[in-house]
Amino acid sequence: MRKSRIVITCAKGVPPFLKEEVFSLGLPVISEAIAGIETEGTMEDAMRLNLWLRTGQRVLFLLEELNARNPDELYSGVSRVAWEDYISPDEFLCVTSAVDNPTIRDSRFANLKCKDAIVDRIKKKYGRRPDSGPERTGAVIDLYWKGDLCRVYLDTSGEPLYRRGYRKIPLHAPMQETLAAAVILATAGKGTGNFINPMCGSGTLAIEASLVALERAPGLLRKNYGFMHLKGFNQSSWERMLQEARARGKRSFDGKIVATDISSEAVQAARQNAVAAGVDALIEFAGCDFSSTPIPDGGGVVILNPEYGERLGKVEELKETYKAIGDFFKKRCQGYSGYIFTGNLDLAKKVGLKARRRIPFFNSNIECRLLEYDLYEGSRKTSKPETTPAPSEGLPS
Ligand SMILES: C[S@@+](CC[C@H](N)C(=O)[O-])C[C@H]1O[C@@H](n2cnc3c(N)ncnc32)[C@H](O)[C@@H]1O
Repeated sequence: MRKSRIVITCAKGVPPFLKEEVFSLGLPVISEAIAGIETEGTMEDAMRLNLWLRTGQRVLFLLEELNARNPDELYSGVSRVAWEDYISPDEFLCVTSAVDNPTIRDSRFANLKCKDAIVDRIKKKYGRRPDSGPERTGAVIDLYWKGDLCRVYLDTSGEPLYRRGYRKIPLHAPMQETLAAAVILATAGKGTGNFINPMCGSGTLAIEASLVALERAPGLLRKNYGFMHLKGFNQSSWERMLQEARARGKRSFDGKIVATDISSEAVQAARQNAVAAGVDALIEFAGCDFSSTPIPDGGGVVILNPEYGERLGKVEELKETYKAIGDFFKKRCQGYSGYIFTGNLDLAKKVGLKARRRIPFFNSNIECRLLEYDLYEGSRKTSKPETTPAPSEGLPS
């Protein structure tokens, strides 16, 4: 298939990390938006992006650009695309959309019009039409319609890429896999060296850190993608990409990954998710309070994603937790870069350390920050009894 523009969507805050990933795959970045970037390439490039991207969510291959002022014009414009070249009548079809057009109140109506145009055209050619529905398990077409401008994309991912396939037990407030990967790429270690994750919950950060450390393509964990349901899917080329990715992934790396949580249910879930991701042998799990997490020598990254609390009572309780995280950083994590991922900056103030960087992210719609703290080496050696101010308290605050 010809080269085309490819839009890759991601969470807000993630484009700088997604851009780096796209560059490292040898593709250009044509433009950057608040929640995505645009590159260009062939369908094979789109397949490679699906296999290797850690931070992207959907890889959308531009098929057609047209003008439509209303649903009827949308129908006739979409009907002109040679859908019989892309979608078999025996395939399952899903249409998704982002619509901002004055004639459309409910974007589902635009989906319906677009879907009708596609299946009617295929029926005319074959006498049969694809079944359709909201599941993104077959061929997925994405419609972007703003004003009169319509862009019709082949969604080569199908299910969004944060569905890596390893999260068997999500627990409460898990971080999306693609966001966790971006957070790791934002840390000083970028996935190298020791990676310590107290409060690990379902283990997303530790699992994504393992995948980064092993240079393992996250897409190897998934069996189904939208591009597989398009006519002309090049199976042998995909097999070759998978083989190359398997050959590139390492079995071990220099460094330790530690994941702990106070909840034994969380530790069990994290372990099971790590088994599903094939990285359980790499992670040391323990059930304990965050402050008792084993911290190996050698420095690295220590990162916590504490709850940020929506109820007032909970927030009061969490103030103590955030303060204790500051103490934990000062007393036990010297030589490390410390990180807290939180959606509550008032709580973060209780940590009592000055953040060196505050990297903006969004967790769903909640504006969050990844706060980075330098935890200087040397203070541990000289730490004194409680009565004397510990030298680590000289950390900027
Ligand atoms: C927001 S969740 C972390 C979610 C995680 N990032 C994920 O992707 O699943 C916070 C976790 O902190 C744990 N936790 C709360 N207080 C703790 C404490 N004092 N020590 C250790 N873990 C704690 C909870 O059990 C919960 O699993």
